[in-house]
Amino acid sequence: MNVLDFRTRKRNGDKISMVTCYDFWSAQILERTNIDCLLVGDSLAMVMHGYDSTVFADVDLMALHVKAVARGAPGKFIVADMPFLAIRKGLEPTMNAVQALMQSGASAVKIEGEAGHTEMIAHIVESGVPVMGHLGLTPQSVHALGGHKVQARSDNGADGLMESAKALAAAGCFGLVLECVPAQLAARVSRSIDIPTIGIGAGPETDGQVLVLQDMLGMNPDFKPKFLRQYANGFEVVSQAVNRFHDETRQGCFPSKSESYA
Ligand code: KIV
Repeated sequence: MNVLDFRTRKRNGDKISMVTCYDFWSAQILERTNIDCLLVGDSLAMVMHGYDSTVFADVDLMALHVKAVARGAPGKFIVADMPFLAIRKGLEPTMNAVQALMQSGASAVKIEGEAGHTEMIAHIVESGVPVMGHLGLTPQSVHALGGHKVQARSDNGADGLMESAKALAAAGCFGLVLECVPAQLAARVSRSIDIPTIGIGAGPETDGQVLVLQDMLGMNPDFKPKFLRQYANGFEVVSQAVNRFHDETRQGCFPSKSESYA
């Protein structure tokens, strides 16, 4: 998959699949799957580092994770999140952040929000860097939004989101994440722009879907938002394997003779 394939997929009505990936070992697994593209999301601040929001990710942290993912999945299209405020500090710091992520091995950057960003996004695109937009619930603005909540439920909110989606497409974004918005609105936005929308909590009529890998694998039994489908019971699988190793070590039946050097 390359950046040109995104529009082709949309034109042909072929859905796009994306999962988050933060580290080398899961990247090695995903490299051998059929998944279309990987997102080194700033959600890694929460999933990998235990923070309570994505605000705590910075460019150095993102670059470290992008390098690990790029080493593990050299054949995949890798989108890297521009972290909190990275696009708000003026031209030079913004372009330095973009450079750091791209030189770490990203194929594109993702930028949350539209208001106040459109010109900068156009500049990044003109500089030869593919940009994916992100509207709806933009977690870097969690403090302004009053929590992780469904967005654009009102007519005004829906109109604003539609305008922003059109502005991002006009600025040159090659794709657009729609997070936690009503399904009908996501469908309308998807029909109104010629770049693919990739939904999370945005219903079935977007042009693709994205999930956090650990969430879809069921690694956290306490996290089960309405939009999430768990494709495995990862928490149980890992716990059972570790407990078996523990028990067999305690019982002295690991390692066996065949697992030992003569
Ligand atoms: O950081 C992230 O994981 C994301 C997805 C939820 C789209 O931006």
